[in-house]
Amino acid sequence: MQRWTVDLSTEAWRQDPKAKEICQTVLGGGLVAVPTETVYGLAADATSGTACAKIFAAKGRPSFNPLISHLPSLDAALHHGVFDERALKLAEAFWPGPLTLVVPKTSASEISDLATAGLSTVALRVPSGPVMRYLAENTGRPLAAPSANRSGKISPTRAQDVIADLGDALDFVIDAGPCEVGIESTIVGLTGEDVQLLRPGGVSREAIEQVLQIPVTSRVAEKQPEAPAAPGMLTSHYAPEAQMTLEALEVLPGEALLSFGPESLPGKEKALSEVNLSPSGDLVEAASNLFQAMRSLDSTGAKLIRVQTIPRFGLGEAINDRLRRAAAPRG
Ligand code: TXA
Ligand code: MG
Repeated sequence: MQRWTVDLSTEAWRQDPKAKEICQTVLGGGLVAVPTETVYGLAADATSGTACAKIFAAKGRPSFNPLISHLPSLDAALHHGVFDERALKLAEAFWPGPLTLVVPKTSASEISDLATAGLSTVALRVPSGPVMRYLAENTGRPLAAPSANRSGKISPTRAQDVIADLGDALDFVIDAGPCEVGIESTIVGLTGEDVQLLRPGGVSREAIEQVLQIPVTSRVAEKQPEAPAAPGMLTSHYAPEAQMTLEALEVLPGEALLSFGPESLPGKEKALSEVNLSPSGDLVEAASNLFQAMRSLDSTGAKLIRVQTIPRFGLGEAINDRLRRAAAPRG
């Protein structure tokens, strides 16, 4: 594995010979860890079944769980997905950015059946992270990319997290520093009459409803157990080694505390370790710190991480979704 460190504060990286070399690696069916604004992705050519198979193998991921294809622009996405008026509105409002749209797949799309898990629908996203967009644009391929962690584990927001978890399986890791949003994209399903929130994420439900001017329904996992297996909807996910409990009212000696906001929890001084997701109570800041905080508390060796109550509006919905999964019974 090679690590390529990129400084995004100037455009010079686009001229670096490494950028071309990595495009060649992708075209040759290789696996590359790529930063996006949400989390690091494990990227490969979505049109190649062999390349996508490598993603599933590296993650240890059940192959029925389909992948998101990343594209450089809405124009490029229109080749692969059928966009109705609602889809166009959302794409225009939030792309490039942390939103994934699940739409019917076009007959012209070359995205492999392995990437879509054989569904007639496809998950498409135009990220604002410039590196993923660059690779999609310069390879001319949609890039399939799940989060670059082993299946069921915490999503990586830094290159070193990727290397620790998956290093051996990769050709390249592109290091552009920590991800800005820090939590995965919101996934919206537009394949039926309802607009379905398949996974809360970096764009809030409220923001989507404001653009569409209609309420968005939540997908009830039990209704479709056979799954167009939405979004990390396998119950236990994002699991640290430690057990987690939510809505903490106190913390006991030897336990770890994941706190939020200015209010202090009884017992806090005796906790083994504490990370505050946002001392000022800002949900956007909290989302960007969430996965790193879970990793860091986990590394202190505490058997239990207690989590303070976090509001459920805005990005709080996605934060609470990830925390619920991390706290779920492990199978
Ligand atoms: O922010 C993100 O979305 C990151 C970065 C790398 O882009 N990617 C990511 O991918 O979170 P992943 O594979 O961890 O989650 C993608 C989710 C899966 O849970 C899958 O079930 C869902 O998208 N999905 C993909 N295609 C779908 C489809 N056709 N219908 C319903 N759900 C789909
Ligand atoms: Mg994931």
